[in-house]
Amino acid sequence: MNTGNYRHENSDTMKLDISNVLSDQIGDRHGITPDEYYKLSKIARSIHENVYRQKTNGELGFTKLPYDTDMLETIQFHANRQKRKWQSIVLFGIGGSALGANMLFKALCHSFHNELTAGIKETPNLYILDNIDPETLVALREIIDPSETLLILVTKSGGTIETWANYFAYLKLFNPSLRTEQVIAITDPKKGFLRMLAEQNAWQCLDIPSDVGGRFSVLSPVGLFPAALLGLDIVSIIEGAKDMDHHSDSCEWKDNPALQMATVTCYLLTQKSKSISVLLPYSNAMLCFADWYRQLWAESLGKRFSVSGKEIFTGQTPIKALGTTDQHSQIQLYVEGPNDKLITFIKINSFRKDAGFHSEVGNTPFKHIEVLRLSELMNIELDGTRKALTENHRPNILIEIPEISEYTIGKLVYFYEMATCYAGKYLDIDAFDQPGVESGKKLAKSRIEEIYKIRRAL
Ligand code: PA5
Repeated sequence: MNTGNYRHENSDTMKLDISNVLSDQIGDRHGITPDEYYKLSKIARSIHENVYRQKTNGELGFTKLPYDTDMLETIQFHANRQKRKWQSIVLFGIGGSALGANMLFKALCHSFHNELTAGIKETPNLYILDNIDPETLVALREIIDPSETLLILVTKSGGTIETWANYFAYLKLFNPSLRTEQVIAITDPKKGFLRMLAEQNAWQCLDIPSDVGGRFSVLSPVGLFPAALLGLDIVSIIEGAKDMDHHSDSCEWKDNPALQMATVTCYLLTQKSKSISVLLPYSNAMLCFADWYRQLWAESLGKRFSVSGKEIFTGQTPIKALGTTDQHSQIQLYVEGPNDKLITFIKINSFRKDAGFHSEVGNTPFKHIEVLRLSELMNIELDGTRKALTENHRPNILIEIPEISEYTIGKLVYFYEMATCYAGKYLDIDAFDQPGVESGKKLAKSRIEEIYKIRRAL
């Protein structure tokens, strides 16, 4: 099929290749036929029109973040003030208040940042307490010196029990005599318990704009402040996001990769039963990117009701996987199991560090790798897996970036945020709420209150 626009090469900082979701590659049953493709490109236009209108009306808070220069300056100012003061940072937050910071940390810092000796690295260790696992918290006792540790509390609502549970358990365990400058709060500009406590204690507060929800907040202080403390170039992260934002202004999907990604994915979900979306980076540094994506895609799109209140039970289950590791774990299922998945590869063209092989290998059954570097082997394996999936009629998409950098990560982040927004429109749901999570939270709260009454009465 010569559609001519299934490969975005409009920029040297990210390429999107959807050719392996088309019927000429994987057949009519699982792939998109030329007719369907044509119709879909029209649907994409109307989705874009809707989202673009909302964006220009200022209704999409996250799209304003890359242009908020005051916010960026404030983050940098406070990060500079904290420079070289601390050995460690402990971040308390969960969901959208933790995953973005962790993703930036893992993608952009040294692979063993926390293990590096203080002389080699110039920035503090980062420990993120999201889950309320007592073993993790207590184990921190062997790792940090509480008097040399900056605490960052992150909660948009200010009312997330896990975040507070970890914080108060930390206080009980470490009993630190906290100095005012030792705690930073990142929260809603006006509301919530964290805002109140921060004001009472005169803690420095950084605002999460009130129209930016947790899972769309990585480009706010939620992700950028910890990133700046780790010495990352947050201006480049924002530049990458802005670049993708410019693409997202185009109603032509050949110029707007997020629009194409979203419409193709939603079509495969609704018309070809691809109810699972696997994000498969071939890079350890990108594994937590897949974690971040998983929350964005799951919480935004998994909904019971349409915008008009019709019961639709929609969504696509996101799975994170890792190449090549999961070739020895998941890929058998993906190639031969139920054909219910869309698999998206992330390929890194040039790794920041690389290694060749000792000449000894030439005398072994593995002699052929002698002429390669590890990065080449990684990408050869990616290409092989992609081919195997395609030959078995499994739709797959390739995202290629030249290297992992602040700029490319910023671009990918915004790409997925926009794609999520477009997908929400396609599926006719509100991508920005999470009523299912709220109901679980309420049930847990009332159970805790019951236990409290019983134990207090004893
Ligand atoms: O995306 C979301 O809104 C959620 O996942 C939240 O980020 C998560 O529940 C944590 O909420 P909060 O930041 O209010 O503590």
